[in-house]
Amino acid sequence: MPSFEQPLAHSSDKVLAVAHPNIALVKYWGKRDVALNLPAVGSLSITLDTFETRTTVARLALSTQDEIVIGKELLQGDKIGRHRQVFDLLRAKSARPCGLRLYSENNFPTGAGLASSASGFAALTLAAARALDVSMSHEALAHVARQGSGSAPRSLDGGFVEMARGTRADGTDCHATQLYPAEYFPLRVVIAIFDERPKSILSTEGMLHTQKTSPFYGGWLASQERDLEEARAALRTRDFARLAEVSEHSCLKMHALAMASRPGLRYWLAQTYAALDTVVKLRAQGTGCFFTIDAGPQLKAVCLPEAAQQVHEALMQIPGVKKIVTVGLGGGARIVDAA
Ligand code: PMV
Repeated sequence: MPSFEQPLAHSSDKVLAVAHPNIALVKYWGKRDVALNLPAVGSLSITLDTFETRTTVARLALSTQDEIVIGKELLQGDKIGRHRQVFDLLRAKSARPCGLRLYSENNFPTGAGLASSASGFAALTLAAARALDVSMSHEALAHVARQGSGSAPRSLDGGFVEMARGTRADGTDCHATQLYPAEYFPLRVVIAIFDERPKSILSTEGMLHTQKTSPFYGGWLASQERDLEEARAALRTRDFARLAEVSEHSCLKMHALAMASRPGLRYWLAQTYAALDTVVKLRAQGTGCFFTIDAGPQLKAVCLPEAAQQVHEALMQIPGVKKIVTVGLGGGARIVDAA
């Protein structure tokens, strides 16, 4: 157990923030600026409920080194880099800079393609900004959170969120904006977990490898705006079939792009394919569901509310499934307690 769990309870200046992971329906893959962590393409996501990151940030003395614990692991060496970078960006804006102690837990598997870095960096940015007394616009918070994880700005908001690629070199026009709140189109998401272990190829690593070696990368960049337009239009009219078609296309295109890099990146397991077949067959029979898969083997089936139970039961039949959880759409990151 991390030694500082006890001291945290007695610390006065501490902030607890909660954030949920988000799942992209129109995916981002690729960076237009590595140092600023700017995405090469825009993306459109849904923020989940039920799965959450709870992050406590406490102030330390100015000269004290940051301490970061995720779950039961005290981060050290390279692993602390992105967290410290976000802290440093916020410290630079603070009139009361200091060292920070962070403790964060997820109630779902970490680093396994379930967007824990998105919820993690959204909660971290919000909590650390408050602990450092930095008052920031939503856009400025997103700008900082993005430097921890490219998809973290989308978790600052709930419901349906679009993240613009932007064109400015400094990334100030790379925004995440809520298109609709969760209640607008109350979809359910059945998450089939096939492997809870952290993935071996991190997203950033995978993206850089892909943009360097995949012959399809140009086509990916050129076709993204069309997919975003299609998804926006589907959402405007709550057209589930249209949303299903463009989301599955975006998912398959992202994975095909990554598989075509050299050596090819494969995030799926045999069970992922089996689950994908199940979802496609159910939809062909009239069940309101579609699949999406991120940089890991887990499959997320996005469902109309009335279809979720049937999809959940069907995915439970896939041999080797470790866990199935059905969740809804949730709200944005928020501060729950500040003392
Ligand atoms: O947020 P990152 O940089 O770990 O990358 C997320 C990449 C995908 O989940 C595969 C796609 C997306 O848009 O969320």
